[in-house]
Amino acid sequence: IRCQSTGTDEPKTKMNLFDNASNLLTDLLSGGKIGSMPIAEGAVTDLFDRPLFFSLYDWFLKYGSVYKLAFGPKAFVVVSDPIVARHIRRENAFSYDKGVLAEILEPIMGKGLIPADLDTWKQRRRVIAPGFHSSYLEAMAKVFTECAERTMLKFDKLIEQEESGGGKLIELDLETEFSNLALDIIGLGVFNYDFGSITKESPVIKAVYGTLFEAEHRSTFYIPYWNIPLARWLVPRQRKFQSDLKVINDCLDGLIQNAKETRQETDVEKLQQRDYLNLKDASLLRFLVDMRGVDVDDRQLRDDLMTMLIAGHETTAAVLTWAVFLLARHPVKMKKAQSEIDAVLGQGRTTFESLKKLEYLRLIVVESLRLYPQPPLLIRRSLSSDILPGGYNGDKNGYEIPAGTDVFLSVYNLHRSPYFWDKPNEFEPERFLVQKESQGIEGWAGFDPSRSPGALYPNEIISDFAFLPFGGGPRKCVGDQFALMESTIALAMLLQKFDVELKGSPEDVELVTGATIHTKTGLWCKLKKRSNV
Ligand code: HEM
Repeated sequence: IRCQSTGTDEPKTKMNLFDNASNLLTDLLSGGKIGSMPIAEGAVTDLFDRPLFFSLYDWFLKYGSVYKLAFGPKAFVVVSDPIVARHIRRENAFSYDKGVLAEILEPIMGKGLIPADLDTWKQRRRVIAPGFHSSYLEAMAKVFTECAERTMLKFDKLIEQEESGGGKLIELDLETEFSNLALDIIGLGVFNYDFGSITKESPVIKAVYGTLFEAEHRSTFYIPYWNIPLARWLVPRQRKFQSDLKVINDCLDGLIQNAKETRQETDVEKLQQRDYLNLKDASLLRFLVDMRGVDVDDRQLRDDLMTMLIAGHETTAAVLTWAVFLLARHPVKMKKAQSEIDAVLGQGRTTFESLKKLEYLRLIVVESLRLYPQPPLLIRRSLSSDILPGGYNGDKNGYEIPAGTDVFLSVYNLHRSPYFWDKPNEFEPERFLVQKESQGIEGWAGFDPSRSPGALYPNEIISDFAFLPFGGGPRKCVGDQFALMESTIALAMLLQKFDVELKGSPEDVELVTGATIHTKTGLWCKLKKRSNV
């Protein structure tokens, strides 16, 4: 890699990677009122030796909560401050689009909510978000429980086989199991399709994983190689990707067709009366077709379903993976979680009602999302020039950014900020139970539940954008409650039946990122039946 500033080829050369000229211009334009943004200096190897968000964290501690970073011809502004996050996500949200993320995802998700242009997004969000209402979630609690039961049954059988050979426990990669479970759940919950991936393989499942793999690869690659002319026909991996996409698209088209052909007025009435528990198919697709009529555009529906399939699968599998990793490292907290499960569920199943009582488990899920946010970076591009407000620990005057600036909002940095969290790197679900008056920074009000009365989990409103487990503002995750319930149920059912330990040492669990944070070689665990069940 050639160093821009010195022209040398030294790989480890510390470089000033950034253009001071634009800072100077900003200063001149602003008459000196707006600060000049710190510029991060680092070795280029920092960008490739380990996940990018680790380097962004080190630079955050060194350069403050808003800084500029460039590699090659590209420059990014890295934001790790709640006030600036609130500005970008809520106050001035529509001055930003998804930039490079949309470029990566558009070939897969089309005009689905994540990459959609603003006009399409406004129209589709209005249609989709109401689908996640409480009656739907109640029906989903049943789906989550049944899918999690299938997973536990599989573990039970594996243990029985082991016992017949004289063994007592099984060793397996829980990350893969969670991935299968999340796929089955999203298939049933969003389009009433049973992938059955817990127990079998199929061409559709393979195509989904192939597509996820490509999406993941694209989000770690800085050059849009997929746009190279003819690449989709000539490059074998791109050809495979196109054929995977076709398999999924055909499957989704079939489901959409079927949903339209089987639309019945009696079901529409049940939907209108929110009588979800008596519906055979309570999926989101049913809602979208039944409530909107059959004239809804098939292509748009397919993009919507594909988006939810991808957005809701990897993220949930990742939160479960890291929750188990953290619990396995903290056996006392694991026991505490099991005591709560025993008290609330006994030997029974999880239900919509019992979920509300599994408070500690919910906090485990959100604390896992604090330490391992999914995704760790949120990407935006400014549509016009903007002035980022002064933050807590950056320049109090704020910074001007030109139109077209790529912004990385580092949720990882926010969630591990030493300015807002006690012992930021420690796993402490109990931290959310303590209402903090002040976290040591003047003006910082800490977690204030009165901001969001009745909230199911500590969220961006309660924390005034210091904690963004599901983003915030108009483009907040639509599936936050779905995901939280699903994760809580899966975790409850696992810990109700099994004691879980890591197979190796925690240091063996290497972490890699694409869109989400996952392990390099799986989360290998030992599972033993709990002695009291
Ligand atoms: C958006 C996180 C599960 C559907 C988002 C965003 C985050 C997020 C942070 C904002 C992205 C951005 O602003 O760039 C998560 C996490 C999940 C999860 C951590 C699991 C633990 C789900 C599920 C679904 C879903 C289960 C669907 C059933 C979506 C959609 C968007 C989104 C459609 C785009 C919303 C919009 O732009 O209007 N998610 N998500 N997510 N999520 Fe989730």
